[in-house]
Amino acid sequence: MDKILVHGGHSLNGNVKISGSKNSALPILAATLLTKEQCVIHHVPDLSDIHYMLQILSHLGAHVERASGTVTVQAEKIITEAPYEIVRKMRASVCVIGPLLGREKEATVSLPGGCVIGDRPIDLHLKGFESLGAMHRIEGGNVKVFAGELKGSSMSLRGKQGPTVLGTDNVMMAAVLAEGTTVIDSAAAEPEVVDLANFLNKMGAKIEGAGTRRIVIEGVKELHGAEHSVIPDRIEAGTFLVAGAIAGKEVKLRRVDPSHLTSVIDALTRAGFTIKADGDTLTITPNGARKPIELTTNPYPDFPTDMQAQMCALFAKTPGISVITETIFPQRYMHVSEMKRMGADISLNGPTAIIKGVERMSGAPVMASDLRASAALVLAGLDSDGITEVNRVYHIDRGYEMIDEKLNGLGAHIERVKA
Ligand code: EPU
Repeated sequence: MDKILVHGGHSLNGNVKISGSKNSALPILAATLLTKEQCVIHHVPDLSDIHYMLQILSHLGAHVERASGTVTVQAEKIITEAPYEIVRKMRASVCVIGPLLGREKEATVSLPGGCVIGDRPIDLHLKGFESLGAMHRIEGGNVKVFAGELKGSSMSLRGKQGPTVLGTDNVMMAAVLAEGTTVIDSAAAEPEVVDLANFLNKMGAKIEGAGTRRIVIEGVKELHGAEHSVIPDRIEAGTFLVAGAIAGKEVKLRRVDPSHLTSVIDALTRAGFTIKADGDTLTITPNGARKPIELTTNPYPDFPTDMQAQMCALFAKTPGISVITETIFPQRYMHVSEMKRMGADISLNGPTAIIKGVERMSGAPVMASDLRASAALVLAGLDSDGITEVNRVYHIDRGYEMIDEKLNGLGAHIERVKA
């Protein structure tokens, strides 16, 4: 297994281009199954999660071509069963259920298993499909969802932890081809949901309200091919902002949408940094001393859970006591024990992390446990003494396009050691 060696103590300066959003690209690629016609998607990041999605589309019968960041999919004839061997590699595979159900009125997909960031059920997805008139059966580790016909209806997709992102995507993709009007209340309002809705509308769907808590979908008979550019990845952008905060003199991000990063910009500003937006760029510079702050993760537009681990890395060396409360995935703290091995002083009290800033941290061999935790360990290594050896790098490659090369382009010293 590849590992990444982060040589600490190199400051970052310069600019970096942000890739297309993983969490937008995944459901958008799944949505190409809704039509027999060709779809062309630009700014698709080169990530292992995207490769898994393309494998699933091919398995389902789609013709898939990829040329650098552009993916062309034509799903003229499809089957409706996605097998465990491919699906198990990525939880987001569940978002093929919506388009398969919408187009073929049935889908059989292996149920996603547990995940280190916490329990990740799909009950809300199934509840949404049921509201549209579908039934489901769980058999042999698979969930089969089927319907004679899909009928628009009103539903709430709110769970204990708030709205569901992929659940909203999934139901939206089924409802675009349902008969009549569907109203999703307590819908997720993440920019990735809006991006998917924009793509579906380009395909001929009639969706209004994406980006708010109430989405209204007028079903249509069929969808056609479309061309679309995926939005910039706000979590990759946020990760590079934190890299700039941890080790930067001045770091400029290109091809970002600053409006998607308001809560992250606000948190970093409170933590003692100056962030300037100019068109599709964001520049972060230190502004005197770092300050400890309190943060709570919540659904968009509040602070994203996908940036929580990276903020832990920043606060680990911020003088004073910072506090983070994780409300979306309350157990998403696998990075904490690894950071403690590097000298961080973090204690956990249920979903709350209390972080006492230390003066120095030292590199150590650490184990990546999930995508964002791995990125956070790399960030922690940037400002630690010696070498941080991040193992199980495949987690990072699921969601960051060339993170080592991009950070090196800013002045970091990171080596990738091939297994
Ligand atoms: N939930 C339920 N029932 C469901 C679905 C979700 O109880 O049927 C709960 C979850 O357990 C969680 C909360 O609802 O407590 C929110 O989960 P959500 O469904 O919104 O998560 P997701 O759609 O599966 C996406 C991102 C995650 C990101 C979350 C939250 C993709 C591919 N994944 O997951 O991204 O953390 O939304 O914003 O879009 C990542 O990129 O590292 C990542 C994990």
